[in-house]
Amino acid sequence: MQIVSCVDYADMSRKAARIIAAQVQLKPQCVLGLATGSTPVGTYKELIRFHRNEELDFSNVTTVNLDEYYGLGPEHEQSYRYFMQHNLFNYVNIPPENTHVPDGLTRDVARTCAEYDNLVASLGGTDIQLVGIGDNGHIAFNEPSAVFVADTHLVDFFASEADVPRQAITMGMRSIFSAKLILLLASGPNKASAIAGMLKGPIDPQLPASILHLHPNVMVIAVKEALALV
Ligand code: GLP
Repeated sequence: MQIVSCVDYADMSRKAARIIAAQVQLKPQCVLGLATGSTPVGTYKELIRFHRNEELDFSNVTTVNLDEYYGLGPEHEQSYRYFMQHNLFNYVNIPPENTHVPDGLTRDVARTCAEYDNLVASLGGTDIQLVGIGDNGHIAFNEPSAVFVADTHLVDFFASEADVPRQAITMGMRSIFSAKLILLLASGPNKASAIAGMLKGPIDPQLPASILHLHPNVMVIAVKEALALV
């Protein structure tokens, strides 16, 4: 795993966006795996800036997102489809039909999950997969558990301790691992222990990001406070 230490959030966002932009320039028809959460927002802002100022062209790019809340439609402000539209897709020239987020309103979860993995496979996997990391080491909605899950699947999770469980459809490890390069972004001192646990190993499904040791090409781009325990 390559580790890139950044001075601040803006630095992390610029570095990540430069890598993604370079990929789009080298291979205009590339497949980008995208993530939600607060961490990649700055990266998306940079990509929008590159699109406007440097004519970065997304017209042949395809995207697949990691996950979606189950039960939320694209118009729901908390849905990840809504997030992607409002943080990236609406501001670059990517054809809407080239953007993929799991269908949170599906009535046939098993089929939707299988089709999502088939879609990723039929695209030849992703060229770059962007991922964040949860305080507990989760990636996408692959939460700490007894085993790693390979397939796209429905998962129960707790948004806070007081909360009732909610559900999400998340890529499993196989589609995430289809990436030629996994870019893991981390910012904030609350990520330090998960990052340290991931880097030091062992590979343990109780710290889902630790599985990234098995991928040949992972770059961790992190603000220095997130690397404080490394
Ligand atoms: C959520 C998302 C993850 C994300 C994580 C961290 O659980 N499903 O994909 O990486 O939160 O979010 P943030 O970037 O806001 O810290």
